[in-house]
Amino acid sequence: MTQATKVTRTMTGPMPVKILVALKVNGQSRQLMLSPWTTLLDALRDHLDLTGTKKGCDHGQCGACTVLVDGRRINSCLTIAVMKDGANVTTIEGLAKEGVLHPLQQAFIAHDAFQCGYCTPGQICSAAGLIAEGKAKSVPDIRELMSGNICRCGAYPNIVAAIKQVMDAVGDKS
Ligand code: FES
Ligand code: FES
Repeated sequence: MTQATKVTRTMTGPMPVKILVALKVNGQSRQLMLSPWTTLLDALRDHLDLTGTKKGCDHGQCGACTVLVDGRRINSCLTIAVMKDGANVTTIEGLAKEGVLHPLQQAFIAHDAFQCGYCTPGQICSAAGLIAEGKAKSVPDIRELMSGNICRCGAYPNIVAAIKQVMDAVGDKS
């Protein structure tokens, strides 16, 4: 097939239909009609107005878009929403419970772990996933396993201190 033929077929082919996608987002059932190529990040921000999750690079390189899907941290910019039909999604808006901040949110404030705050929702969601994974045992582990979350303000020492505090508190309880 020539390049021209390919282009013609693309331009004259039928438009893809929208697809019904059911998600549970922060405990609420949501149904969305989405294009097949809509990312989870765009579904959250543009269709559900949950703009706490940030779009940094949109290429899986910065971690600003990190959310929890069925308890696991993922880059929502690399995730096609229709592939998560039926999933439980937790964003930064869903971490506080009944007006009480999540321990990681409290720790980030206590340790002054942000400057501009753009990376912070992704950092906190990623840290929640990290602690649930139970693999990090030390500060170097935290640094390594949080390396997918970039902070352009360089707040790393405070971010690590905040995560360590919560990780230790969870460890003390278990
Ligand atoms: S916006 Fe998803 S990794 Fe950067
Ligand atoms: S606090 Fe500004 S990018 Fe992290």
